[in-house]
Amino acid sequence: MPSILFVCLGNICRSPMAEGALRAEAARLKLDLIVDSAGTGNWHAGEPPDERAQRTARRNGVDISGLRARQVTKADFRRFTHIVALDHENLANLRKLAPADGAAELSLLLDHVPGREGQAVTDPWFGDEAGFDVTWSEVTAAARSLAAMARR
Ligand code: 4NP
Repeated sequence: MPSILFVCLGNICRSPMAEGALRAEAARLKLDLIVDSAGTGNWHAGEPPDERAQRTARRNGVDISGLRARQVTKADFRRFTHIVALDHENLANLRKLAPADGAAELSLLLDHVPGREGQAVTDPWFGDEAGFDVTWSEVTAAARSLAAMARR
């Protein structure tokens, strides 16, 4: 069964939104899919998603209030079939952390969106709430193609 871990820096803005979007898409398609998220940093471990991320998801019918931030671990590379980084810095840090026996396939989130390959999901943390809408549209586009991939 495919299992997908989304990874950003804090695990309170971008990756929990990606997790919520893919969980919703998997539920809609009745797909059996393991979905989780984590951060390369640990400053926000144990915290729920940023209020702005929660509101943006809720406006789009997805409840991410129950998620709690955690830091990515080496075990994640053995547990997940796919690890999807939200930007290049997090992807580079994942490559450094990957254990030799970690089989997880690494990619950027926007590699899964036709025409956006190689691009980063900008961190909305420092901006206003409109930035979170941009993030939501990016993670939902990726969630659709990841769900389609998992279905095959
Ligand atoms: P995220 O956003 O990586 O999308 O969860 C961030 C949230 C918090 C911080 C950085 C990025 N921070 O530095 O506290």
